[in-house]
Amino acid sequence: MKVLVAGGAGYIGSTACSALLDAGHTPVILDSLVTGRAEFTRGRIFYQGDIADGALLARIAAEHPDISCAIHFAALIVVPNSVSDPYGYYRENVAKSLEFYHNLLAHGIRRVIFSSSASLYDDAPGFKVTEESPLNPRSPYARTKYMMETILRDFTAAYDMRALALRYFNPIGADPALRTGPQIKEPSHVLGKLVSVAEGALDEFLITGTDWPTRDGSGIRDYVHVWDLALAHVKAVESFDDALLALGTDYATINLGCGNGVTVKELVYAFEKVYGKTLKKREAPPRDGDVAGSYADAGRAAALLGWRAERGIEQGIEDALRWSRVRDSIIPD
Ligand SMILES: NC(=O)c1ccc[n+]([C@@H]2O[C@H](COP(=O)([O-])OP(=O)(O)OC[C@H]3O[C@@H](n4cnc5c(N)ncnc54)[C@H](O)[C@@H]3O)[C@@H](O)[C@H]2O)c1
Repeated sequence: MKVLVAGGAGYIGSTACSALLDAGHTPVILDSLVTGRAEFTRGRIFYQGDIADGALLARIAAEHPDISCAIHFAALIVVPNSVSDPYGYYRENVAKSLEFYHNLLAHGIRRVIFSSSASLYDDAPGFKVTEESPLNPRSPYARTKYMMETILRDFTAAYDMRALALRYFNPIGADPALRTGPQIKEPSHVLGKLVSVAEGALDEFLITGTDWPTRDGSGIRDYVHVWDLALAHVKAVESFDDALLALGTDYATINLGCGNGVTVKELVYAFEKVYGKTLKKREAPPRDGDVAGSYADAGRAAALLGWRAERGIEQGIEDALRWSRVRDSIIPD
């Protein structure tokens, strides 16, 4: 199948393109490279431009009339930046997605797979969340995701369009074949920071927040290997119609996580075990906007997509470390 991949030059999108190619599908990448990398599009069909550029989308649709669905990864994703620049985030994520969905419809692309986020969920007793658990997006970033989901649901109700919103938990690692991986040199997420400490780019690792009501007081997350996440997109493309048919709806949300909660302290311990050395670390108060966290009830993904995460955190850590050793040769700046 031919699949339009908006944001296919980014971390998760480029990994999904590799998985699509491996499965015999053809990704057509649309990416502005605002945070994505041209190196990740090498040898792939690639259009550089904005998702809101109607003329470019018309050209893509004319040159690839056989596109059967679109995956929408394109977004700005840094939570603190969304707090300091809500205008930029609502414009880039919400306003541009509105145009993108509209233009997809205009060109007859009626199946949409959307990258949503577990950051939509409210705190849940026991930390496990199903797709029906209460939402409480607590940052402008999370609220853009909520709005992008809402618009998509309204489009599917009003127009001839169907959509799956995939709510990712916490992606870690890199393509095991090391074609792509996290492109940011100094990532702000927890595993990226651990790698930076291991490499000497950071002095110490801060365990921010140690009074949460979790088993050891540190935040709890559901770390899912990015290759598992990529494979979920292949399943979503291949079983799109069946999944919605089974539900009898035109729109569905699906959690993509392992279904296991791992605390930050447990992740640090696993990292030290894989890395073979202990890291300098310190406990610190939570950062603004931090939450205790959640992990996925992953039952719907298994039932509708036939997908389950297969890789544990150790493999995610190992692949993140392997990627950090080759990153500079693949992305030279
Ligand atoms: N990384 C995470 O922890 C995480 C967690 C949950 C959900 N998500 C979602 O997954 C998606 C991909 O995230 P990622 O980690 O790969 O981020 P990323 O920044 O690596 O990738 C985003 C890609 O979209 C492109 N892009 C952004 N705005 C664009 C625009 N207006 N037009 C065209 N291209 C544009 C960027 O250049 C980049 O290649 C995002 O929608 C993000 O919100 C990510």
